[in-house]
Amino acid sequence: MHHDSSAALVEDGKVIDGAAEERFTRIKHDGAVPMNAIKWILTKNGLNEEDVTVTLSENRPNPLKNIGNFYGTVYRYPLYIGETVLKRNVAPYLKKFKDVVFVPHEMGHARSAFGSSSFNKAAIVVMDGAGTDSGRALSGGIFIGDGKEIKPLEYLDIRRSLGFFYGGLTVALGFEFNDGEWKTMGLAPYGNKFIDELNELWRKERWDTYYGSMAKLKALAEKYRKEDLAYTAQKILEDETLRVAERASELCGTKNLCFAGGVALNVKATMLLRERGYNVFAYPNPGDSGLAVGTAMEHQKERGEIGTIYYGPEYEYSGGEKVDAPQTAAELLEKGKAIGWFQGRMEWGPRALGNRSILADPGKEEMKDIVNRKVKYREWWRPFAPSMLEDKAHFYLENADKAPYMIIGYRAKRIEEIPAVVHVDGTTRPQTVSRQQNERYYDLMKSFRIPVVMNTSFNLAGEPIVCTPEDAIKTFERSGLDALIINDRLLMK
Ligand SMILES: [Fe+2]
Repeated sequence: MHHDSSAALVEDGKVIDGAAEERFTRIKHDGAVPMNAIKWILTKNGLNEEDVTVTLSENRPNPLKNIGNFYGTVYRYPLYIGETVLKRNVAPYLKKFKDVVFVPHEMGHARSAFGSSSFNKAAIVVMDGAGTDSGRALSGGIFIGDGKEIKPLEYLDIRRSLGFFYGGLTVALGFEFNDGEWKTMGLAPYGNKFIDELNELWRKERWDTYYGSMAKLKALAEKYRKEDLAYTAQKILEDETLRVAERASELCGTKNLCFAGGVALNVKATMLLRERGYNVFAYPNPGDSGLAVGTAMEHQKERGEIGTIYYGPEYEYSGGEKVDAPQTAAELLEKGKAIGWFQGRMEWGPRALGNRSILADPGKEEMKDIVNRKVKYREWWRPFAPSMLEDKAHFYLENADKAPYMIIGYRAKRIEEIPAVVHVDGTTRPQTVSRQQNERYYDLMKSFRIPVVMNTSFNLAGEPIVCTPEDAIKTFERSGLDALIINDRLLMK
C-alpha cells in the first residue's frame, strides 16, 4: 500500500467483490489502508474482521540484498527497519482480522494473471516499476504456471526497470508519474523520429529509480519534440516487452503467455505480443491495484477463471424520469449527445466497461474533440476507445477475437465508420461485449445505428471514476455531458 490500494474478497480462487480505495475517498491513486473498500466488502457479505484472512503484497527491499542499487544504500536502512516493524505490527485495524499474510509483490502480480486465465500451463511475464521478492528489489520476472503451481524462473533487475524509465520520461514530458503514462502512450504515434540520445540513456543509466536521470531526461525534453521522445520510449518499451516474452516462452516451452505488472497496461505492447503469435492473457487490473486479488489467490493457491470484472458496488436510484435505458441512450447518441451511463456494479481496474462510462457516437469524428475539451477537460490528443458487439467485432478489427477488458490493442478496419475511436496510427483498444457479459450495454449497442459506441471512463481529468449516483450527478453537473442515465432513470441538462 503505497499507491492504488484496493480490497477484494476472494473465496477459493473466485473473486466475489473488489474495489479500489480511490473510488470511495475520491483521491486518485489513493494509497491509504483501504478502510472504505474493506468496510463495504464486510458489510455486504455480513462478515466480521475475525472471519477473514488479509493478504498483503510485501514490498520491502532489504538493503543488504540490494547492494549496488538505490535500495541498497545506507539511507534505506531506517525505511527497511520501519517496514520490518510494520510487518510485525501491521496497521492496528488490520490486526483485528483472523490472520495477516504477506505475499511477495511480483508473485502477487504473476498469480493475478495466471490464476485468472484459462491456461493450464503458461509462461508468466511480470513487468512493473519496482517490487520485491525475498527482500530483493526487482522490476518484474518470468514465472512458469502449471496447474495450481507458479514458480519463478528469472527475475528482472531493478536497474533495468522499464516502469521507471517510461515513468521518468513521462515526468520529463510534464505529466505525472504512475498516472501520465497513458498520455505518453497516446502521444507516441504522433512522433516519427527515434531519438538515439534517449535510447543511450536507457541503455547506460541505472533505472532503479527515475530521479537520478531526471536532469538528463529534462534536457532531452528541452531539445526534442515531446511526440518524438514519447515515440522513442514507446518503441523501447515494445522491444523490451517482446524480448522478455520471447525469453519466457523459450524457458517455459509454451506460447501461452500471461502478462501483469503496470507495463501490461501498455495496449500497444500487448497488441504486438498477440501479433507475434502468443496466446496472450493480460490481467485487466495489472497494476498494483490488482494485487488484492493476486495476493489472495496466491495464498489460496486456487484458480478461478475470470469472467466479467464488475466486482464493485451497485446502487439504487429513484430520481429523474423512468425510461427504457438502452433505447433512450441509443436515441440520444444518434442526436450527437454525450451521455453519462451508470449501471449496476462498478468495474474492477482502470477501465470503464459500460457500467461507469461516458458514451458518444464513434461515427462523428468531432465527438473526440468535444468529449476531450468540453466534457472531460483534458488534452485534445487523448485517444478514445470503442465498445462493440462481440459478434460484429470482425467488421472493425483485424484478427478479431474476444476482447472484453480493453487491455489489448488491435488494428482497426472500416476506420471511416468509427473515426472517433481509432488512434492516429490506425490502432484501437476495443471492448467486445456479449449479451451474457453485460445485457443492458449489449442492448444499447443493438439499438444503435452501428454496433459500436465510443466509451470513455466516467470521470473528469485528474479525478477517479465515479462510484455512487451522487458522484455521477456531481460530475454530470460540472461537465459538458448532455444527459445522464443511472440504471433506468434519465436526467437531462
Ligand atoms: Fe507492481
